Amino acid sequence: MNPSLPKSNIVIAIDGYSSCGKSTLAKQLASSLKFVFIDTGAMYRAVTLYIIRNHIDLSDIVSVSGALDLININFQNIQGSNTTFLNGENVETEIRSSRVSGLVSEVAAISLVRQKLVAIQRAMGENQNLVMDGRDIGTVVFPDASVKFFITADPIVRAQRRYNEMLSKNQQANLHEVITNLRHRDTIDTTREDSPLQKADDAHLLDNTNLTIEEQFESALDIIRNEVDLSDIYKH
Ligand code: DC
Repeated sequence: MNPSLPKSNIVIAIDGYSSCGKSTLAKQLASSLKFVFIDTGAMYRAVTLYIIRNHIDLSDIVSVSGALDLININFQNIQGSNTTFLNGENVETEIRSSRVSGLVSEVAAISLVRQKLVAIQRAMGENQNLVMDGRDIGTVVFPDASVKFFITADPIVRAQRRYNEMLSKNQQANLHEVITNLRHRDTIDTTREDSPLQKADDAHLLDNTNLTIEEQFESALDIIRNEVDLSDIYKH
């Protein structure tokens, strides 16, 4: 066991709507606290990519189950950037494509998929300090997380940010399509039967519509410092 870890490790749970800056905040916090960052949306996206590539019918639960047995997802740090691997292949760019974004909420609504990914996510939190972002981290994956955040922002602002991000990565983007996709994902994510997106009672609500990335980071860090004794971690 790593002697620098406190008796029970620290989990920071960040949930919220699509494209509202959860991963940006999670990465900043993980880097500043020296915690591991896990983007659980990337895991649902990797499963979706596998399903698309292998022409798996989402209504055929036997095929979905068989596919899940063949999927291995892990993250590696490539040139300082958290990178998603599907069965050993770097799929970081492909999982962000419109094709995957268009189907991922349907895939994430399948209980069998959730069961598999939640089990992997819990195992990741067993022996390391984590910042994990997603939709059900504070409600289902880690209901006892040390600190929970629920992030939100105006939907049009979110769509504009996502659109700008896609352009900056030279990806094909159409603002109207981005808005439609966000609305579609919000609806499915909040209304699905299994683990719908909702704020945990004890989560801190952060509306970042009018906050800069830096302001959001500072306010989240203040909350963490108030709620968690970080001194143990940096002793060694
Ligand atoms: O955060 P993201 O946009 O990359 O997530 C992609 C999709 O995965 C999103 O539509 C909801 C789903 N998701 C989920 O259901 N549970 C999570 N813990 C993370 C993501």
